[in-house]
Amino acid sequence: MSRRTPENDQYQGSFHKAFEPELTRMIQRLKWIPQKPILDMPCGSGFYTGLLASRIREGQHLTAIDNCEAYIQPLRDRLKAILQPDQFHVQSADAYHLPYDSESFDLIWCAESFISLDPKGALAEMYRLISNVGQVVVFEVDEFHHVMLPWPVELEAALPAALLQATKAKYGSGTKHSPARRLRKQLREAGFPTVRRRVHAFERTAPFETHTKTYLKHHFEYLREFAYPYLDASLQDRFDHFTDDAKADSIFERPDAELTIMTALYTAGKTPSKSGSEST
Ligand SMILES: C[S@@+](CC[C@H](N)C(=O)[O-])C[C@H]1O[C@@H](n2cnc3c(N)ncnc32)[C@H](O)[C@@H]1O
Repeated sequence: MSRRTPENDQYQGSFHKAFEPELTRMIQRLKWIPQKPILDMPCGSGFYTGLLASRIREGQHLTAIDNCEAYIQPLRDRLKAILQPDQFHVQSADAYHLPYDSESFDLIWCAESFISLDPKGALAEMYRLISNVGQVVVFEVDEFHHVMLPWPVELEAALPAALLQATKAKYGSGTKHSPARRLRKQLREAGFPTVRRRVHAFERTAPFETHTKTYLKHHFEYLREFAYPYLDASLQDRFDHFTDDAKADSIFERPDAELTIMTALYTAGKTPSKSGSEST
């Protein structure tokens, strides 16, 4: 998902709502050893900060940062309902130059942000801030295989090419929408000897409930704005038909509709793994 705008907040918010059970489970299953504070960077509107906050116990501390001022006070207000004042800190700060001492954190969480952040600068800062026993956890997607739907096959084959053209036109390079596929390399280059990936697939089948439909509508709006102009006219017609909830055979109404969301959770640490293996 892209740079912060009200539209993107809605798109990203609809993803969080639709897949909240899986995302909550993902946070619940994080290895939790924190003696030192936990950092959510950048926290955005604080969806994940709230989930992390629910795991904070006495003596533990949660810090959240974002360089967008508009998020800061509302998130402080929300966290007040979950945590004691001395258990959290929310601050406007630059992810590349955070005002904290080296090795101050035992867990750093970074979600869905490498489309806005420069991964190199952000990962260098995470490497500086994480303790020797701590872990950096990066949750990312790769737009080229993120949302899987039973599109007409010709359309499914054409969409990635359209997305690639759109990405090149907007960013000057085709890589911007596929942060997950470079993360292992980038984490290694940042200095982490141990990198693990866990792929999470979230599945929904028809009849889709409201939050799934809302998410799909935002996803189709994004595709329509971004990739659709690069489809030829006959494929645009098929896109319109497939995504039109007034049509009985649209994805919203088909009784056999299936949706799969692919995501990747990367975990990196400063301590080399004993087995030498980096696999999950
Ligand atoms: C796509 S949002 C993701 C937010 C959050 N992690 C989530 O998943 O809901 C990316 C966030 O990065 C923030 N951001 C971009 N550049 C930043 C920087 N240099 N320092 C701090 N935050 C930054 C934006 O304000 C935005 O909130």
